Amino acid sequence: MPITEELRQGPGERGASEVRTLSELNALISRADPMLTAPTHPVLGEGPVGAELALVGEQPGHQEDLQGRPFVGPAGQLLDRALAEAGIERDRTYLTNAVKHFKFEERGKRRIHKKPTAGEVRHYRWWLRRELELVHPRVVVALGATAVLAITGDPRPIGQFRGPAELDGHRGYITVHPAYLLRLPDREERHRAFQEFVSDLKRAHSLSQHVKR
Ligand code: URA
Repeated sequence: MPITEELRQGPGERGASEVRTLSELNALISRADPMLTAPTHPVLGEGPVGAELALVGEQPGHQEDLQGRPFVGPAGQLLDRALAEAGIERDRTYLTNAVKHFKFEERGKRRIHKKPTAGEVRHYRWWLRRELELVHPRVVVALGATAVLAITGDPRPIGQFRGPAELDGHRGYITVHPAYLLRLPDREERHRAFQEFVSDLKRAHSLSQHVKR
């Protein structure tokens, strides 16, 4: 489907103000035409309202698109290991993405992840903002630069801003995306980066224990 100007305005602009609950919000986006070509499902956020942590990724990948759930592919498995090592229960954590559909390029039979453009991130931004308002987590964790852009509207390099942050009115924490760790070629470097990621998750979790509602 071509990316039309109408879609560029964002599906939510046509009904976001009436949305009062997360399930109404999810129903709205599920009915909307995807901005991206040919994904299988919109991948909705998953986890409890009022969670201690809400983790925001970039976009669903191949596995997430097939299963209709966030963080179930290779990056999700690495995230699961990091959460377990940080002593955080996945089931008590809200997981979502900046962009709700898988963007890919077909190469033979394979579907290769393509990074969303800033315009595509903007297209989905209304939804993420409303979603985070409704989920009302204690701490929002931005996993990578696309998540930071989607939550705040500002591009902020992770190397410079990694750590605690105010994110669009939420107590927040900025860290790397787990897929970045998967791409590191050197084993030792990957191990060190994984431990740093686990430390970030622990610090975000400990922040969440001090937030008053
Ligand atoms: N990467 C993401 O950013 N989100 C997912 O759900 C899976 C991989």
